Amino acid sequence: MSAVLRNCTSTDLERLLPVLDENFIYSKGRSKSLASRFPSVYCAANAHNIYLVEEAGEILSALAVKHVDWHADGHVWRGAMIGGVITSLDRRGQGWASRLLASTEQALRIAGIDFAVLWTAQPAFYARLGWNVQDSGMFGEMSGGSDVDPLSDRVQVVSMADAKLADIECLRQKHCAFRIQRHAEDYGQIPIPANCVELLWSEQDGQTAYALVGDADQTGIVYEMVGAPERFAALMANLSARYQRIYVNDFKSSESYDWLASNTDIRWQEKPLTMWRALSDKVNAELVSQWYIPYFDRI
Ligand SMILES: CC(C)(COP(=O)(O)OP(=O)(O)OC[C@H]1O[C@@H](n2cnc3c(N)ncnc32)[C@H](O)[C@@H]1OP(=O)(O)O)[C@@H](O)C(=O)NCCC(=O)NCCS
Repeated sequence: MSAVLRNCTSTDLERLLPVLDENFIYSKGRSKSLASRFPSVYCAANAHNIYLVEEAGEILSALAVKHVDWHADGHVWRGAMIGGVITSLDRRGQGWASRLLASTEQALRIAGIDFAVLWTAQPAFYARLGWNVQDSGMFGEMSGGSDVDPLSDRVQVVSMADAKLADIECLRQKHCAFRIQRHAEDYGQIPIPANCVELLWSEQDGQTAYALVGDADQTGIVYEMVGAPERFAALMANLSARYQRIYVNDFKSSESYDWLASNTDIRWQEKPLTMWRALSDKVNAELVSQWYIPYFDRI
């Protein structure tokens, strides 16, 4: 029987998820299913945006797409994030993932999508298929464990379920040169390896800033720190009192990157994980080299 490339149904998703979880989560010593980490991707409502190759009832290969609106350069671009690319162990090296990526790209082009983007530690596999690494992302590391600083009391820590999303959006619109349009369910994402995500909010004298922070036991992972730089000291003091170690995902030229570089002993390293594929002629390598998609938004 010949293989068929098609969109996933919610029933397919039920049998695909345990395979994806084993590969991307549990075999790596992580916890929490992809369905709870990326609720708007691995859910029945998005099943048709998961693409698969099936042969005789067996799923040979699959990948997930999340459609996004990307605000940048005074324009709203239509993007597709790709994740969960997998081929079953005994069918690898037979071209299935490559064919699935090519046919998904074709479907995205037809749907008028401007670009696709993914994150990988295996760039060679995607480079063969025309994807390019372009990443201004920086990974920062600093030690925490400081005594409680009076500044840290001026920070409210709330779970994402209790966060006032409209307030976050207001600051993003004012301070972020580019951003993904987030819907309420997107704030439910829990990037690997965090156990949960919290909002740190600091407001004083009419100045406001927040940080989205992943909690990974003794480590706090800052996915973004946005708002008035005058409030960043309070946010970082709070984190430093609560975590032994702090990681920061950021990009060169952001307000938070500049502030952290000038005011803390953070050590930065480049983190070139992002690969892009232009799907419309409006997008090119030079344009995407200036874009950065926060770690929190990635799938
Ligand atoms: C990566 C993966 C999806 C490839 O699936 P596949 O169906 O075997 O891929 P294809 O058969 O289309 O392509 C295989 C080709 O890619 C190459 N390739 C596979 N993995 C590679 C890697 N990590 N780096 C570079 N090349 C790679 C193979 O050598 C082969 O090359 P060839 O055609 O010149 O012989 C599969 O190995 C897999 O499921 N891995 C585990 C999950 C994973 O890591 N996914 C990627 C997350 S970003």
